[in-house]
Amino acid sequence: MTTQRVLVTAASAPAWRRLRGAAARAWVAGFEERREGRGGAVVAWAPSVADAERLAERLLEAFGAAAAEAVTVAITPESSAWRTEWTRHLRPVALTDHVQWAPVEAEESASAPGVTRLCFAPRFAFGDGSHVTTRLAARAVERLCRERPGLRVLDVGTGTGVLALVAVVSGAGGALGLDVDAEAVEAARDNARLNGLDARCQFAGTALAEVAERGAFDLVVANLELRPMREALGGILRAAGARGRVVLTGLLVDQAEEITRALRRANASVAPPRADEGWVLLETLA
Ligand SMILES: C[S@@+](CC[C@H](N)C(=O)[O-])C[C@H]1O[C@@H](n2cnc3c(N)ncnc32)[C@H](O)[C@@H]1O
Repeated sequence: MTTQRVLVTAASAPAWRRLRGAAARAWVAGFEERREGRGGAVVAWAPSVADAERLAERLLEAFGAAAAEAVTVAITPESSAWRTEWTRHLRPVALTDHVQWAPVEAEESASAPGVTRLCFAPRFAFGDGSHVTTRLAARAVERLCRERPGLRVLDVGTGTGVLALVAVVSGAGGALGLDVDAEAVEAARDNARLNGLDARCQFAGTALAEVAERGAFDLVVANLELRPMREALGGILRAAGARGRVVLTGLLVDQAEEITRALRRANASVAPPRADEGWVLLETLA
C-alpha cells in the first residue's frame, strides 16, 4: 500500500475558517494546516486510497452542505518521507504563561524566567500545541493545579499527553491520560519519559468507564469533539464526583450550549464559557 495525501483547499477566508473547524472535528488524530492566499488548506495522510477517501468523506460531511462549492479535494500518493515532511511545520508554542511545548528537535532558546519547557517527539497524535483548544485547556489546567497543589488529574483524550504533562509541572500530584488511539497512548508515554515525568504521568487505552470510579479524580479535563464528548460526559462527571472540577473543550460555540445544559442537569455549576477563535472551554465551579 502507498501512503496517500489528502489535500483539501478553500479559496476564501470564510470557507477556510469552516474548513479548519471541520478538519478539527473529522480528523482529530492530526493534520497540517497551510495558509494560502485568502484561504488555506488542510492536509492529512492515510495508508491506502480507500482510507484517504473515507477521510475526505468525513471532512466533507463535517463541513456541511456547501462543501462541494467551497472546497476542492485532491488525493495523491505521498513519498515515504511524509512523516518527516509533516513534522517540519512544528514550532515551539507558548501554551501558557509558564509552559512552552516544543518539538524535541527544536533549538533551545533562552526561555523566560519561570517558563518550563516541555518537549514532545513529533508523532501522529493530536496535541502539538498549535490548536486553540489545547491552549485553552492548558491554561485552565495550569491555573487549577497551581491553586491547589497535589490534585489527581484525569485527561480524557490525551493525544500527545500534553494536558497531563502540563498538570504535573503545574503542581498536580499525578495524572492519568486516556486515549482510544493506541498510537496516541504510545506518543504520550514517550513524551512523559522525554520530560522525566513518567513516574507521575500514566497513559492507557483503558475505557473511561473502567477508571471512572465515583470521585476518583480532583480534576477531569477533556478536549474532545462533540460526539465523543456526549458519550464520555457521564463518565467524566462520575470520575470528578461531587467535589472534583471539570474542564471541557473541543466544542464549537454552537455546540457548547448542549453540553452546558447537560452539565446543569447533572447539578454542576458552570462558569461563563471562554471562547477563542470560535472554540469554547467550559469549566465547572467548586
Ligand atoms: C482533540 S484531541 C485532544 C488531544 C490533547 N488532549 C489536546 O488537548 O491537544 C482528542 C483526542 O481524543 C481521543 N479520543 C476520542 N474519543 C475518545 C474517547 N471516547 N475516549 C478517549 N479518547 C478519545 C482522540 O483519539 C484524540 O487523541
